[in-house]
Amino acid sequence: MALRVFVAGGTGWAGSELSKGIAKTKGMELVGALSRKHSGKNLADILKLDSGTIPIYSDIETALMKTDFDVLVEYTKPDIAKTNVIASLNKGKNVVIGTSGLTDSDYSEIEKVAIDNNSSVLAVGNFAITVVLLQMFSEIAAKFIPNFEIIDYAHEKKVDSPSGTARELAHRLSKVQESKIYVSEKDFVGQKESRGTRLEGVQVHSIRLPGHVISVESIFGLKDEKLTLRHDSGSSAEPYVNGGLLAIQKVGTFKGLKRGLDSVMEF
Ligand SMILES: NC(=O)c1ccc[n+]([C@@H]2O[C@H](COP(=O)([O-])OP(=O)(O)OC[C@H]3O[C@@H](n4cnc5c(N)ncnc54)[C@H](OP(=O)(O)O)[C@@H]3O)[C@@H](O)[C@H]2O)c1
Repeated sequence: MALRVFVAGGTGWAGSELSKGIAKTKGMELVGALSRKHSGKNLADILKLDSGTIPIYSDIETALMKTDFDVLVEYTKPDIAKTNVIASLNKGKNVVIGTSGLTDSDYSEIEKVAIDNNSSVLAVGNFAITVVLLQMFSEIAAKFIPNFEIIDYAHEKKVDSPSGTARELAHRLSKVQESKIYVSEKDFVGQKESRGTRLEGVQVHSIRLPGHVISVESIFGLKDEKLTLRHDSGSSAEPYVNGGLLAIQKVGTFKGLKRGLDSVMEF
């Protein structure tokens, strides 16, 4: 039987590209979507898909009542993402989270709800394979270099910061080791904000400017030498599709919460 997938945000920039990918993938069926503006319409018409009716709802409660599915893909906005995820987990669905902006404490809560419902959540700050590689290379560097900071760059309209990619990277690097601080709070002079925020023991800075899409840098420093690992996204959502499809296939293979696409990749 095909895996029935519901995409919250199926009409959006990232969600529509993934929805087209799901519709083309053998063994998957796209069964519904969330969008306020397109509620009541047929996603197949909007995305020009060669399939039957794919209903669009404005809220997750209605969707859960009217459409049965196996996997929820959460690709909306940070203000509604946790509500969608928790409502779906409470109905025993598995969930793939692509939306950025959820905090570590949100993830602790989500993990608990997933375990209580014997469900699974795979949260991926960035589905692009080149970002997965940046995360892995950065973890190797952090084993050898205790001095590192993260900078994330995005367009001026991105509502959340740091980005999901930067948050996930900080989370992963913190598991290797916390980055060293050389000037203690009591010796610090000037505006504290200029040093960015500290996420799980890792310093993170966010730049929001027109002309930028999404980029992330992990910067490492040792005496007289430095290393910068940088990823730049292009302008289309295509790089996120294959990773999203893999996440949908793999989310049912474990229970509880996993973060990062490589947690389910085979090497
Ligand atoms: N993990 C990754 O690799 C990755 C890649 C790209 C983007 N992202 C993240 O994914 C999220 C979506 O990005 P995007 O660029 O696709 O945004 P977008 O183009 O604005 O799309 C958002 C989608 O969510 C729907 N939506 C938003 N708020 C909603 C609500 N309250 N109720 C129901 N539907 C709602 C929108 O429809 P309506 O406005 O009609 O409601 C639309 O379909 C962001 O957090 C972004 O940072 C992650």
